Amino acid sequence: MATPSYWDYLKLQDLLNLQGGLEDDESQLGPDELHFIVVHQAFELWFKLTLNELRLARDHLAAPHVPEQHIPHVVHHLRRANTILQLCADQFGVMETLTPQDFLAFRDKLIPSSGFQSFQMREVELLCGLADGERVDSGFGDPLAAIRRMGKGSEAGEYAIARLEAAMEEQSLRDALHAWLWRTPIQGSAPGDPGDEAAITAFVDRYLESMGQRYAAQIERLVGAGVMERAAAETKFNGMLALAGEFLRAEGAEDPVRLRRIRAAIVFIESYRELPLLAWPRLLLETVVEMESRLVLFRSRHARMVERIIGRRVGTGGSAGVDYLDNTTKYRVFKELWAVRTILLPRDAVPTLQQADAYGFVDEAGISSVRIEATT
Ligand code: HEM
Repeated sequence: MATPSYWDYLKLQDLLNLQGGLEDDESQLGPDELHFIVVHQAFELWFKLTLNELRLARDHLAAPHVPEQHIPHVVHHLRRANTILQLCADQFGVMETLTPQDFLAFRDKLIPSSGFQSFQMREVELLCGLADGERVDSGFGDPLAAIRRMGKGSEAGEYAIARLEAAMEEQSLRDALHAWLWRTPIQGSAPGDPGDEAAITAFVDRYLESMGQRYAAQIERLVGAGVMERAAAETKFNGMLALAGEFLRAEGAEDPVRLRRIRAAIVFIESYRELPLLAWPRLLLETVVEMESRLVLFRSRHARMVERIIGRRVGTGGSAGVDYLDNTTKYRVFKELWAVRTILLPRDAVPTLQQADAYGFVDEAGISSVRIEATT
């Protein structure tokens, strides 16, 4: 093996010769085109690393049994992905130094290519768990079908198609997270334990009862302060309570028993986060929400940058441009985690914790570290 060098290890010669654009000749590029290409390539490298981190996190979570000490690894990989996504959003500031006129100088030759064809971005969506039917209409059909259609016949296009198809076969982070959440002991009861379903139902009923009491107190305050009429306040809060009930009982879902357990697990972890064995799971949920939040901000930041550079014109890929991009900011993959934020109760209103010992670290003598008193 040759003596290691920086340039060999990083394949610098190859890397720095990849900016030739459509002409495959850097000297033919317009004055701002090198900037345009390098910024896009830098994004794609960050997407590559993001995918790697998401897959590592998913692999840990997808195990049939996830030891407690593996959760920090999941958080570690997701945090790296989150830092990269934040950097990517900030990186649009570099792109934005391109003026509208300078972009117009070379924009038309790019039609119909577009960031729309970034198969790595689609892989990020697939790996998170964005379902087919959840994509917004771009005006020319499903984005994945568009990549399939346009990729046919060229080596790079076929490569994009193969990458997408492989990603579609993978287990998503959302599915792995749900499988793990489903196994969470709730009030000390685990799936398969006798009476587990009844324990979940009791927890959910008690939770909703407490929520109803708090809402009743809030109605009194609003009505008492003259902010709302009683009838209007009751309609609003009762509606919210009904929605919380539908969500927690998962009525109408394909597999209500399973989904009920998953949703109750999220509420449980968030509600008793100070328990030693729930502290890391709670942090994991927070990190997943942060990840999706950064993806949304990434999409918003891209749309604002696009609005500044090309206004409201049609994209090179043929979509409605900014309007289409703004619609994609509504995507939410981890819907359960977001929904639970609407129904969380303060610590003093959550149901009395049962079997607290199941959530403590047990020392060599078998003594649990948990000393939490029942609260209600
Ligand atoms: C001058 C700079 C840019 C402009 C004017 C622009 C414009 C657009 C437009 C209009 C679309 C919608 C599809 C279409 O009709 O083409 C789009 C999609 C997209 N762009 Fe950009 N873009 C720019 C830079 C970037 C950069 C630097 C990235 C980073 C990778 C990027 C990533 C994407 C992605 C991933 C999509 C697909 C979004 C989705 O369908 O969810 N764009 N872009």
